[in-house]
Amino acid sequence: MPELKVGASPEEIAAFWGEHSKREPSCAESTMQGFKNHALKCHNCALAQSRTQVVWGTGSANAALVFVGEAPGRNEDLGGEPFIGAAGKVLDEFLAEAGLNRDEVYIANVVKCRPPNNRNPLPEEIAACSPYLQIQLELIRPTVVVTLGKFASQSLLQTTRGISSLQGQLQQTEHFKVLPLYHPAATIYDRTKREPFFEAATTLRQVLSSSDAS
Ligand code: URA
Repeated sequence: MPELKVGASPEEIAAFWGEHSKREPSCAESTMQGFKNHALKCHNCALAQSRTQVVWGTGSANAALVFVGEAPGRNEDLGGEPFIGAAGKVLDEFLAEAGLNRDEVYIANVVKCRPPNNRNPLPEEIAACSPYLQIQLELIRPTVVVTLGKFASQSLLQTTRGISSLQGQLQQTEHFKVLPLYHPAATIYDRTKREPFFEAATTLRQVLSSSDAS
């Protein structure tokens, strides 16, 4: 992969990716690694000052299923991987319910650096990070994306609809299906969200098996 200059702005990253993806079919794993290495040094928003490290994402670059969360929390900021704290345990339960494990999926966040005190990500932080998520999704080319919580769901579906009305409602976008869910952390502090959240594992199983058949 040719060099993407250190310090490239979100617009330069998007333009570089636009040119690169037209020219080179490339190996998803190694191209992903190249962009990850670039992102680890990113200073395109103020979160760079308070983060411990960039949390790029984990899993197979050839996965048919991608989970997109909101932003790293404290555990993820320290550990460098998404969903390794309490919300990650709920996500693991959901994966088990859907008959899946982490090796078969890719897990990333809308925003790759921890917002201080786990506050909501700001629009400018989401905008600064959006080329990275776009690159991840275009390289992986999943058939299904599960969006976890309001920020991931609204960003990927380009909607202002609330998460309660989106929860479990499968959507078709240009390149993949989207299954929006409550954020796993929300099921910890609001137990009424657990049932609809876990029920969606059945929907996911069905969607994945029908995508296999097609
Ligand atoms: N919450 C998220 O949205 N993402 C993580 O990686 C961890 C907690």
